[in-house]
Amino acid sequence: MRIVVTGGAGALGSLVVAEGRSRGHDTASISRRNGVDLATGRGLSEALAGADVVINCASNPRKPAPVDIEGTRHLVQAIEPGTHIVQISIVGCDRNPFGYYRAKTQAEQILAESDRPVTIVRATQFHDFAATMARSLTLGPVALGVRGLACQPVETRWVASRLLDHAEEARPQGCRRATDLAGPAVFTLPEIASRLRTHAGRGVPRVLTLPPVGGVLRSFANRTNLPSGEVEIGGASFDDWLAGQ
Ligand SMILES: NC(=O)c1ccc[n+]([C@@H]2O[C@H](COP(=O)([O-])OP(=O)(O)OC[C@H]3O[C@@H](n4cnc5c(N)ncnc54)[C@H](OP(=O)(O)O)[C@@H]3O)[C@@H](O)[C@H]2O)c1
Repeated sequence: MRIVVTGGAGALGSLVVAEGRSRGHDTASISRRNGVDLATGRGLSEALAGADVVINCASNPRKPAPVDIEGTRHLVQAIEPGTHIVQISIVGCDRNPFGYYRAKTQAEQILAESDRPVTIVRATQFHDFAATMARSLTLGPVALGVRGLACQPVETRWVASRLLDHAEEARPQGCRRATDLAGPAVFTLPEIASRLRTHAGRGVPRVLTLPPVGGVLRSFANRTNLPSGEVEIGGASFDDWLAGQ
């Protein structure tokens, strides 16, 4: 099977490319560093020619409109009819006013409204992203938390392997939503900060919990980022992932 992975040099995409190759698929990675730009569509048609499946892992959380929204439009336009698009998205993105999540929701809508075979796979925050968030909210020995806010982080490698599983399935008629993917446990950010500090041989942090301010934080505090319906739990736990770092 010929698989093209957009954002194939990224955190998730690179694992998808490696897993695709280890499963024996002809797997190509595309991103700006090999001359393909989703934001403009440059090089896209050539890169997608002959693909059975495109796994769309390209993204720009800081500036999502050109890549996540317009890039998805360009992908739909450039792809050959019948090529299956497997799209990674984020659990609860349609329930949170955060700009990046709105862009992810818009990308899903563009795909759903296209006449292409599409599988949308939503995942919770990856372990390394949850760790980065917790680190950025740890000031010396104090871990900041937001009342109610939690995450259910998931192993990126497992998400990559589930994307490949979907790529190997028969292409759907139209657009289908796969079961959401999440890791085994729910943590507050101070709970993650505490694990990170212990792992680094430092003491348990003091926790300072702040109220959620603004629509985005209130939405996270209402745990819209946790799976609410059918969910597939899998991958290494946060603790096992951390032990391997
Ligand atoms: N991180 C999380 O916790 C998480 C959780 C759930 C879902 N997801 C989703 O998983 C996907 C991948 O996330 P990630 O953390 O692996 O992202 P990442 O490491 O930032 O990788 C993003 C990739 O997109 C490529 N890219 C950016 N702009 C581009 C453009 N204009 N044209 C072509 N390629 C472009 C980048 O390559 P170049 O710079 O070389 O172009 C890079 O390879 C995203 O859709 C994200 O929403 C992430």
